[in-house]
Amino acid sequence: MPQQREPVIIPVITIDGASGTGKGTVSQLLAKHLGWNFLDSGALYRVLALAAEKHQVALSNEKALEALAEYLNVQFIAHQGAFPTVILEGEDVTDTIRTEKVGNEASIVGALPAVRTALLDRQRAFREVPGLVTDGRDMGTVVFPDAEHKFFLLASPEVRAERRLKQLMEKGISVNLADLINELRLRDKRDQERSVAPLKPADDAVCIHTDNLTVEQVVERILLSLEGNDGKKSFPATTHLTTCEFVQVGVAE
Ligand code: DC
Repeated sequence: MPQQREPVIIPVITIDGASGTGKGTVSQLLAKHLGWNFLDSGALYRVLALAAEKHQVALSNEKALEALAEYLNVQFIAHQGAFPTVILEGEDVTDTIRTEKVGNEASIVGALPAVRTALLDRQRAFREVPGLVTDGRDMGTVVFPDAEHKFFLLASPEVRAERRLKQLMEKGISVNLADLINELRLRDKRDQERSVAPLKPADDAVCIHTDNLTVEQVVERILLSLEGNDGKKSFPATTHLTTCEFVQVGVAE
C-alpha cells in the first residue's frame, strides 16, 4: 500500500506592530539569519496606493481599488540581506513607495475590506520553503493565523518618530518632528480603529518593548524566544519580552 505523506507545513514567523517600531528592519535581518523568505506586507499596500495615484483612482473608490489590487502588476525582487526591489508595471518604485505621503495613503486603502481580501492570496503565496518571515499589521491575526511564532513590536511615539526622522534625514528628506508625531498618531488611529484586520497583537503573540533595544538586540530576543521560552509566555524582565495582554499598542487617543 502506498505510504501517506504528511503534508509539509512551511513555518512562518509574523512580526506585527505600528510604524516606526522597527519591524521591517528586524524582519529582514531575521529572514537573512534564518535563510528564509521575507514579505514586507506594508509594501503591497504602499504599491497599491501608488498605482491608484498613477491610474487616477480615488482612495475612496473601493470597487476600483479592489480590481486594481486583484490585477496589480507588481514584482518583489528578493536580495539576501537587503530590502527587495519593488517593480510596479515595469517601473522601479523601491524608493518612491517609502514617503510619508504614500504611507498615509496605504493606510487609507488598507482600511477598505474588499482591498484587504483582494490582497490575501498574494501575501500567502510568499509562504515558500524553507520558511517565511513577514511583517505588517495583521500578519499574526488574519493572514497567517496558524503561524507558530508571532511577535508584536512596541515603542513609544517619541522613539518611533525619532527613528523615522533619522531614516528620512539619511535620505535627505527634511521633516518636522512634531508633524511626524501627528502623522504617526493619525495613522495609528486609522490602523487600529478600522473594521477589518485592525492593528493589534494576536492572542498568542509575544510582545517586545523596543525603546531601549537596537535592531540587533530585538533580533536576538526573537531568536531567544524561538529557542526556548515560547509556549511558556513568561520571560525574565530583562529580556523586554512580555505577553501581549493589556498592552497599549499605539498612540491613538
Ligand atoms: O508598514 P508600513 O508603514 O509600510 O505600512 C503602511 C500602511 O499600510 C500602514 O499604515 C497600514 C497599511 N498596512 C496594512 O493595512 N496592513 C498591513 N499588513 C501592512 C500595512
